[in-house]
Amino acid sequence: MPKKYNIAVIPGDGIGPEITSAAIEVLEAAVAKKEIEIFTKELKAGGAAIDLYGIPLPQETIAAAKDSDAVLLGAVGGPKWDDMEPEVRPERALLGLRSGLGLYANIRPVKVYDQLKDASPLKNPGNIDFIIVRELTGGIYFGKNGVYQSGDRLPDGTVKGKIAFDTESYSEGEINRILKIAFELAMKRRRKVTLVDKANVLTTSRMWRTLASQMSFDFPEVELECLYIDNAAMQLISRPSSFDVIVTSNLFGDILSDEAGQIAGSIGMLPSASIGTPGTPGLFEPIHGSAPDIAGQNKANPLGAILSAAMMMRIMFNEEEIASDIEEAVRKTLESGLRTSDITFIGENNNVTLVGTTEITKAVIENL
Ligand SMILES: NC(=O)c1ccc[n+]([C@@H]2O[C@H](COP(=O)([O-])OP(=O)(O)OC[C@H]3O[C@@H](n4cnc5c(N)ncnc54)[C@H](O)[C@@H]3O)[C@@H](O)[C@H]2O)c1
Repeated sequence: MPKKYNIAVIPGDGIGPEITSAAIEVLEAAVAKKEIEIFTKELKAGGAAIDLYGIPLPQETIAAAKDSDAVLLGAVGGPKWDDMEPEVRPERALLGLRSGLGLYANIRPVKVYDQLKDASPLKNPGNIDFIIVRELTGGIYFGKNGVYQSGDRLPDGTVKGKIAFDTESYSEGEINRILKIAFELAMKRRRKVTLVDKANVLTTSRMWRTLASQMSFDFPEVELECLYIDNAAMQLISRPSSFDVIVTSNLFGDILSDEAGQIAGSIGMLPSASIGTPGTPGLFEPIHGSAPDIAGQNKANPLGAILSAAMMMRIMFNEEEIASDIEEAVRKTLESGLRTSDITFIGENNNVTLVGTTEITKAVIENL
């Protein structure tokens, strides 16, 4: 009996449809000779859903996503919907999907392929291969916030001028579940976890540190390093190859993962996964946006989406062989000199050939 995987595909807007269909084509080719059947169901979200139903995340989409084994997302948003109120804009679908599916951990691998070292803004990038594990549903983005108006009475006096506030709060449970993901990932890799926090200032950070130290007793083979966020932002540039798994809060992870994304050279190369409680579908997507400036022109780099599909095979379905096959096919494709427009402009090199989305996808499939 073949294994059956039900994948909800949300192409979204801009280049989303081009890159998700490329990823599904590659996935289907990768499982073709295995005892695996892939079933896909296309769902609307973002601007595409606003145009059809007037809202960015229809109930049917979230229900079908919950019903699937895993979700593949392209990207949402674009200038067509830029004037809309934040609550109804396409990007709102991302928040709705994360909270609807209970996705509390964002996993973002950062790898610089040997063939793309010229494209990295770092002079000597070295062997960069690390993962950022970011807490996704807690912290300051979800804490109590508001504005005290001038004249409001506070316990310590009357407010002069408005005061705006946001609060960071984390429960032990929220921290422990994400730390566990980080330590478990490290066990499958180079066995090092770096906790990034601001424990010299923030009470929440001190709790992260205490819990990380406690958890490290359960993972004696894993080295635990703790860095303040300001120092980590520097070290990511000065010694990126020394990192293995970085774990951090929502706010710090948001900033660090974009910094790290730049190291890889092109935004089009990087995959990501957002996962929740075991047994619930995870969401897999490239880190870039909908790139409206190149949509529909066969210019989009589909490799970030293709590598996201590989992550899905590894994380959701434990199909390590298929995931590695896809990653190796991507490496071979880059080695053969094929590049999409986002990566050719750097390292003026006669051995590279500029190709489009469909051509590079075809090459990955041939290299499988
Ligand atoms: N997860 C998401 O769905 C997501 C994430 C970020 C931005 N967005 C939305 O996407 C829209 C555009 O945002 P932006 O321009 O700030 O960021 P973007 O990532 O879409 O594009 C930034 C630049 O990188 C290029 N680029 C991005 N991905 C590429 C790829 N795969 N291949 C080749 N080039 C690529 C684009 O052409 C553009 O020049 C906005 O509406 C934004 O809100 C969505």
